[in-house]
Amino acid sequence: MAGKQFKQRVFSGIQPSGSLHLGNYLGAIVKFVELQQSHECIYCVVDLHAITVWQDPNELPAAIRDVTASYIAAGIDPKKHIVFNQSQVAEHAELAWVFNCVARLGWLNRMTQFKEKAGKDRENVSVGLYAYPTLMAADILLYLATHVPVGEDQKQHLELSRDIAQKFNNDFGASIAARGHGEAFFPQPEPLIQGPATRVMSLRDGTKKMSKSDPSDQSRINMTDDADAIALKIRRAKTDPDALPSEEKGLDHRPEADNLVSIYAAVAGISKAEVLRHHGGAQFSAFKPALTDLLVAKLDPIGKEVRRLMQDPAYIDSILADGSARAQAIATETMKAVKDIVGFVRR
Ligand code: TYM
Repeated sequence: MAGKQFKQRVFSGIQPSGSLHLGNYLGAIVKFVELQQSHECIYCVVDLHAITVWQDPNELPAAIRDVTASYIAAGIDPKKHIVFNQSQVAEHAELAWVFNCVARLGWLNRMTQFKEKAGKDRENVSVGLYAYPTLMAADILLYLATHVPVGEDQKQHLELSRDIAQKFNNDFGASIAARGHGEAFFPQPEPLIQGPATRVMSLRDGTKKMSKSDPSDQSRINMTDDADAIALKIRRAKTDPDALPSEEKGLDHRPEADNLVSIYAAVAGISKAEVLRHHGGAQFSAFKPALTDLLVAKLDPIGKEVRRLMQDPAYIDSILADGSARAQAIATETMKAVKDIVGFVRR
């Protein structure tokens, strides 16, 4: 498979299942924005993924528009690139079914995110939650995407996507070659997990990931929090009594300090070492206001723009409709080839 060269293309997605937070922003959206300079990018609002856990039908449309507005407000250009919601391109579900028949039960049984999300109530969660990673593989591979910017928590799902691509290429190898696709039909998508904030932690507990589902709003900074809310949450953020170290090694076993320094570094676009060069020796009483100023300067304009865009749902819907049509044009071609490779008879 080493031989075949695939055109470079970026795909990633975010679930519309609650308010977006600083982890989504620093772990994913900031990278999405950067990659627009060097790649053709497709950014999806993954509503099919969201319904793997219950979503109120009266709230889901606003959640879909909110993620779309956040993409645009953060600097994603929906004209140059593609922004759309997953449920408007039925091929996602179609390819996911084929992948359900390629992926092995044992592979899915190893998924730690399913184990965490299902918890003790495993008999009662949806089948969709279990099959979630095969849909994610379909999202990426439907566009033959080669690069996938994500936070650290998605690493295992990306590995599964690679395994699925490889097994499909192997199982159908003869058919792929016979139909003129060379030695591989799907690329091996590469995760892009980079920078100081690939895993932003809760502000209340530096050993837990910052997450939409944490019942405490104090645990996270939402992308639409105003300056006062950001200031309050950072002031209340858990820390330890020591001053900041001057070198990174000094952050070992200090999860809360490490988290705040990582956030600072990611927002400022510098390394943790650089943050500590400037702030080493400072007490949190001095560091926290500096961090607050930085966060407010970055997030406040984005939050304002999200609120402005949300006043005009018809505009957001037109972006999604346009993006979906362009995404579908690519998806249809992939599905035609997949059907031929698998041996389905088609119109
Ligand atoms: P989701 O919606 O949970 O999160 C969206 C993105 O934000 C990242 N992220 C974080 N990064 C750093 N620190 C955190 N605390 C943090 N929390 C979330 C996630 O890693 C992700 O990049 N399965 C995916 C959505 C998805 C997808 C895809 C992604 C569906 N299909 C195809 C890439 C390609 C998810 O649930 O992300």
